[in-house]
Amino acid sequence: MLAKINNFLAEISAATVNGPDELESFRLKFLSKKGLLSDLFEEFRNVPAADKKETGQKLNLLKQKALDKYNLLRDGLQSSDEKSSYNDLSMPAFPWNHGSRHPISIIRNEIINIFERIGFTVSEGPEIEDDDHVFTKLNFAPEHPARDMQDTFYVSRISPEDSNPEDILLRTHTSSVQVRVMQSHKPPIRTISPGRVFRNEAISARAHCIFHQVEGLYIDENVSFADLKQTLLFYAREMFGRNTEIRLRPSYFPFTEPSAEMDVSCTICGGKGCNVCKYTGWLEVLGCGMVHPAVLEACSIDSKKYTGFAFGMGVERPAMLKYQVNDLRLYFENDIRFLEQFRTAF
Ligand code: PHE
Repeated sequence: MLAKINNFLAEISAATVNGPDELESFRLKFLSKKGLLSDLFEEFRNVPAADKKETGQKLNLLKQKALDKYNLLRDGLQSSDEKSSYNDLSMPAFPWNHGSRHPISIIRNEIINIFERIGFTVSEGPEIEDDDHVFTKLNFAPEHPARDMQDTFYVSRISPEDSNPEDILLRTHTSSVQVRVMQSHKPPIRTISPGRVFRNEAISARAHCIFHQVEGLYIDENVSFADLKQTLLFYAREMFGRNTEIRLRPSYFPFTEPSAEMDVSCTICGGKGCNVCKYTGWLEVLGCGMVHPAVLEACSIDSKKYTGFAFGMGVERPAMLKYQVNDLRLYFENDIRFLEQFRTAF
């Protein structure tokens, strides 16, 4: 009888099943009332008393092994069942979380989209720049306060006595990209440069040391201030709504002459006056002007033949107006609960 039990032990440990029918055959063969185990327990009665202990232990082991194997085979069938259900392409999809665009990206894309519709291309450039592209070529006098450490993050400053006195810095505006475009392309030029810029400002709800800009440049023969005004009016109405009014206030930038700042009628109160526009009815949105001839010449463009206009705006401000988010810092903290609120097709 011991030999029989050993054979069954070997058979059980080698057993495999292909599907529920074979599993049931296994159960019937070993574990059912009329199965082999019942027979063996029947036979056990006739085992001589001297062998009972050893045979009994073996028999119990066989029973345990048969039960364990049955459970193992059954579990195996269930998990392969689950696996095959993954292959069913008609099953509903998992609810994958798709994330969302950052609100600054949404507004930046909207601005780009508006200008692309009237023929502007997109150009990009390095965030780590040299003094030449950020200031000198843009007609900043050597002592201009904007070059001061107060505003500019310097990566390295090289003394003027150095044979190559070039300061490396984080760009404070994306006008530097426009310099690069003017240096590498012949007019007509019609381009916008979106990107991150850096200024050494204390971080608060209304100011940050990193922010985003979109700057525009149009250079061709006979480009006039009227072209600038019409382009900006188009932008304002596309961005803030058909009834938006604009006004240009005289201003100063070293690289444009004449220069102006543009206000739009308040997008919240429509110009009646509210706490967002501080009861003036107007919101300042960008700086602009006619490209200074000295800038054209510095970039090897004939200022007698060509004229151009430029403008530059922050992205955070229209985002704050559009989403009524009044703390700039929220745009940089990347709190998922904040970001999840911005779902768009863009
Ligand atoms: N570069 C300016 C700034 O950063 C904006 C500007 C661009 C103004 C072009 C006039 C013309 O504030």
